Amino acid sequence: MEPTAAQESQAAGWWRQAAVYQVYPRSFADSNGDGLGDLKGVVSRVPYLAQLGIDAVWLSPFYPSALADGGYDVDDYRDVDPQLGTLADFDEMAARLHERGIKIIVDIVPNHTSSRHAWFLEALAAPKGSPARSRYIFRDGLGPDGALPPSDWTSMFGGPAWTRVPDGQWYLHLFAAEQPDLNWENREVRDDFLTTLRFWSDRGADGFRVDVAHGLAKNLAEPLEPLPARHHPAGLNGTHPLWDRDEVHDIYAEWRQVFNEYDPPRAGVAEAWVHPSRRPRYASPAGLGQAFNFDLLEANWRAGEFLRVITDGLAEAQRNGASTTWVLSNHDVVRHASRYALPAQDHLESTENAKGWLLSNGTSPEPDLKLGLRRARAATLLMLALPGSAYLYQGEELGLYEVADIPAELIQDPSFLRSGGAEKGRDGCRVPLPWSPDGASFGFGASAAHLPQPAWFGPLSVQAQEHDPASTLVMYRQALGWRRRLRTAERLEWVPGGHGQVLHFARPGGWQSVTNFGSEAVPLPPGTVVVASAPLKEGLLPADTTAWVLGS
Ligand code: GLC
Ligand code: CA
Repeated sequence: MEPTAAQESQAAGWWRQAAVYQVYPRSFADSNGDGLGDLKGVVSRVPYLAQLGIDAVWLSPFYPSALADGGYDVDDYRDVDPQLGTLADFDEMAARLHERGIKIIVDIVPNHTSSRHAWFLEALAAPKGSPARSRYIFRDGLGPDGALPPSDWTSMFGGPAWTRVPDGQWYLHLFAAEQPDLNWENREVRDDFLTTLRFWSDRGADGFRVDVAHGLAKNLAEPLEPLPARHHPAGLNGTHPLWDRDEVHDIYAEWRQVFNEYDPPRAGVAEAWVHPSRRPRYASPAGLGQAFNFDLLEANWRAGEFLRVITDGLAEAQRNGASTTWVLSNHDVVRHASRYALPAQDHLESTENAKGWLLSNGTSPEPDLKLGLRRARAATLLMLALPGSAYLYQGEELGLYEVADIPAELIQDPSFLRSGGAEKGRDGCRVPLPWSPDGASFGFGASAAHLPQPAWFGPLSVQAQEHDPASTLVMYRQALGWRRRLRTAERLEWVPGGHGQVLHFARPGGWQSVTNFGSEAVPLPPGTVVVASAPLKEGLLPADTTAWVLGS
């Protein structure tokens, strides 16, 4: 039977309200006992993913990499790291996921390659001004003997964004020195990425998460423009020399054409840490189609902040035909069960400050972990009731906290090293998952894991939780199951009341979500409570709790 137009458009829009689960492959499941997660490990856990009830998996980079930045330093965009498996393993993984109706989103890292990429090795061996160098951003230094960096540009991981090579030139890296930035004015660079997009699309990728999507276009006109002063509006109008320039969208317009060669069209989601007013351009149907909205992740646990973020996010999506995205945790930030265990943070006036807070402040003052998890569960349940797509990060379904006490000598994150220890780095949310209460690495693999796991992982393991109806894992399973059945039109209606401490909304079809941010228990609307983030108190919704109510 021919699919109807509605079915067809539904197939094309699968991502619009998808629950997407982020797998950080090196920390998910280790099939061969070398301490590093791998693709066969993912395959072995496909039944788990299916039972969880997600619609898609987003895999952080699994490409060959020296791991200078957790795999975001890619040696070869069209291969699998031998430590993680082979292309055949990728195919097997794709087949197993697709069999269970789970889509695959792969992570594309276009801003920079690794310093071991064939192109960069070629550039180092080639002379100044050569075509090989023009795939990257090489410049002569300043000062009489060129010993000063070509500009004041700084790396996101601390220190100058320029590193000098033996013949005296400097190359640009907005991240680690092992991550040289590509020159996106170079046609060959552009074409090669189109080849990569087709390569993975042909192998079954249903979509792409685009790393540092706001960084590709730079103002490379001579003399190189200095960084604007901190509060200069450059970040708001597309005139910053490095970030969020308007020309970047020409690149995604080309990518969109490739996405649309496929049926259904491949999906895209931009990782763009830009001002909210600039986000719609990335999410445009003529561009990547979706962009991460990190506003929820940056919000404090306060009704007013959540209300504003949700209202703005939905309005923005409606204006530009995209669907909203929601994120509470990912591999770059302190896990939300730990964030909400800390006092609220004010004056997060810029994304940069907020990120600094998220990255560095997982430990002090002493976190109230019980409260943190309670709020994290309530926040997740609220998020999963919203129209749009929800991005979940591996381990949040177990209620994992940030591992805040990794010894300095075991830390892998370049932001820790390059900031001289000022930034704690992101390893604390990347510790391999606990699958069972004991064993060499809590069921992650047959030996110790590549980052140390704390003893408290045991009781939070999958096995310890899966038969406990009060566990976080069971709450996620129930919520994702109901979400699949209940999600309807991408709309919600706010239900007033609650004196500013309660967020209550209804989705078409009789699905209501109520969250109590206040300190007193509040009544629930009539109907059946199908999931709650904590037990009700004599029929009332207690503090820091969300419940879903069906009917009437
Ligand atoms: C993105 C990734 C992050 C990585 C950076 C550089 O922000 O999410 O993990 O370090 O890009 O590729
Ligand atoms: Ca392994």
